[in-house]
Amino acid sequence: MQAVLDYLDANYDRFLKELCDYLRFPSVSAQPEHAQDMAACGDWLLRHCRAIGLEAELHPTKGNPILVARTPRTVGKKKPHYMVYGHYDVQPAEPFELWKTPPFEPRVQGCNLFARGACDNKGQNFAHLKAVEAYLKTGTELPCDLTFVIEGEEEVGSKNLVPFIKSQRAALKCDTIVISDNGIPQKNLPALTYALRGIMAIEVKLTGPNRDLHSGLFGGTVDNPAMVLSQMLASLRDKDGRITIPGYYKDVLPLSKFERESFKRLPHDDTKYAKFLGVKALFGEKGFTTIERKSARPTVEINGLTSGYQGKGSKTIVPSWASAKLTFRLVPGQTPKKAQKLITAHLRKICPPTVKIEFGDNHGGEPYLVSPTSPAALAALRTLRLAFGKEPAVMREGGSIPIVVDFKKVLGADTLLLGLSLPDDNPHSPNEKFDLDLFKAGMRMGAYLWQELPKASAK
Ligand code: BES
Ligand code: MN
Repeated sequence: MQAVLDYLDANYDRFLKELCDYLRFPSVSAQPEHAQDMAACGDWLLRHCRAIGLEAELHPTKGNPILVARTPRTVGKKKPHYMVYGHYDVQPAEPFELWKTPPFEPRVQGCNLFARGACDNKGQNFAHLKAVEAYLKTGTELPCDLTFVIEGEEEVGSKNLVPFIKSQRAALKCDTIVISDNGIPQKNLPALTYALRGIMAIEVKLTGPNRDLHSGLFGGTVDNPAMVLSQMLASLRDKDGRITIPGYYKDVLPLSKFERESFKRLPHDDTKYAKFLGVKALFGEKGFTTIERKSARPTVEINGLTSGYQGKGSKTIVPSWASAKLTFRLVPGQTPKKAQKLITAHLRKICPPTVKIEFGDNHGGEPYLVSPTSPAALAALRTLRLAFGKEPAVMREGGSIPIVVDFKKVLGADTLLLGLSLPDDNPHSPNEKFDLDLFKAGMRMGAYLWQELPKASAK
């Protein structure tokens, strides 16, 4: 094991260069013009995995290829099998002008590495690859078999991954899944995340007159889709931050007293948090703390809102249509299917007859909740102690990784969420970064994990 840790130290400069190469691919899955870059990035990853000693294949899908890389299996030895999941696709980098340096030209400043995808998810996932490289290149026996599954469509809903894991059920059958695609509260406080919120994402479009109209000549005689949409959306949430859709909270499981107490032990300061986000005051559901609201309570957000004239100067029109992209974060008890039904029925009901309502693209993911005291979870906590030299926290996370629920359903395995991202890493925002101290700690975490986790499987 010391050889593994020494290898990680000795080769750090090269690892950082390789991560920068990985980050140079603009692998933006949401934008069709990046299809070539997606393919090139997948290809780079394939070659990289082979170079570090993994048996790797790229599996084509209807969308972007999925990389599967396995540690060489020792014949005749039955070892526990774990999967490490990650994604090589990234969010769009727009608005480009807000980046201090270009998003796909990685830049190290102090202990941070800036680039789109630095933390979400290339950097975090790369730490695991490097830990395994250290085992393979030092000839240190791994007490387990590992399979990396690194997909290219996480940021757009993992639509092709679900059929893939179903078709590869036997090969991917494993004891536990490990994901580092999430956060920790602070640099000196590692954490095991035991819950994620689910998501229901939906587009709604209202159409009024059959073309944009002169607002002086026609305004006052027809309804304005932008006005109607604004009024409808505004009514989805009340002044106490509660979603107003009838029956929406019926399935929401209440937070236990025990959990609420445990949230209080996580470091948090509302004043600092507001300052960090640049807001005058915080907002959210009344009766719940900030940590509860951002990780364990339902929300509705408008992610995008489009209508009318957006160019310079003014254009006096009644727009023909208005549309919005909405996401509802879901918590244990809720399902995207049921939420979608409630949401669309409610929007149809409150939509006046003066406009036509249509629902566009949607995708969903179920919330996830597992025990933070299972043998695997305890092994993960031991790993964090060893890798960080600090007592780890347990926490819930507000973001969504829908595939973990599919992993559970299809492969029967639970997921350990071992994040390496900090609250100011800016995933999905301009100037995304990854803390290089956490890159190093993440590699050590990967190294120790394969010692500790098999002890849990042996029980
Ligand atoms: N890595 C994030 C999710 C995340 C971030 C989970 C921080 C926990 C903590 C992931 O790449 C992501 O952004 N997922 C999307 C889900 C989606 C597009 C279905 C999200 O949460 O918005
Ligand atoms: Mn993301």
